Order: sequence, then C-alpha cells, then structure tokens
Amino acid sequence: MKILIYDEGGLVQLNEPASKTLMQAIRDAGLNIAAQCGGGASCATCHVYVDEAWCAKLKPADETESAMLDFAEARQENSRLSCQIELSEDLDGLTVTLAPGAAF
Ligand code: FES
Repeated sequence: MKILIYDEGGLVQLNEPASKTLMQAIRDAGLNIAAQCGGGASCATCHVYVDEAWCAKLKPADETESAMLDFAEARQENSRLSCQIELSEDLDGLTVTLAPGAAF
C-alpha cells in the first residue's frame, strides 16, 4: 500500500509502511511531525487534513479525538489526529496534508 503526505517540502509517498498508525508512519519516514504525546490523543500535534476523497472511508473521530481537535491550530472539517488513524490495506492511496502546528 502507499500513503501520500503533503508537508512543507511537498509531496512524499510512503510505500508499504509497516507502522500501525498514520502518525507512526509519518514519524518513521523522518517527516517533520511533533506528535508530542506519542499517540495518546492528548496533544493535537499530529494534526492532518485528510483529502476529501478519503474522509468518508475513515472511521469517524471518536469523542476524545474530536475534543482534542478543538485545541488544534486551524481545525477544518477534514481535520483528524493522525495517531488515531489505523492503517490497513483498504486505505491504499490515503492522502493527507500535515496541518499547521504539527511540525516541531
Ligand atoms: S500524537 Fe498526540 S494527539 Fe496524536
């Protein structure tokens, strides 16, 4: 599977990420993401914007994630915490953009 990430440097394609979550895949690829709480849904510094075509294919944000996104910089309709997105084959081609405040 592949994942497409837009960050300040442009488009990065991750092929066959072995990581369990999108945040881990981004971090393992060496991209600039703070993810300060390490995936505990308690910092909002792994904030991404999900490409519109993929929003409906993801499990909806639960209450904890949605509440934390209220603290994220520049929340949008397509905002998600990348640490709460579990990767699986059916997300092949998932495309996201790192949001402001996600970089360290
Ligand atoms: S890493 Fe902290 S909320 Fe995702």
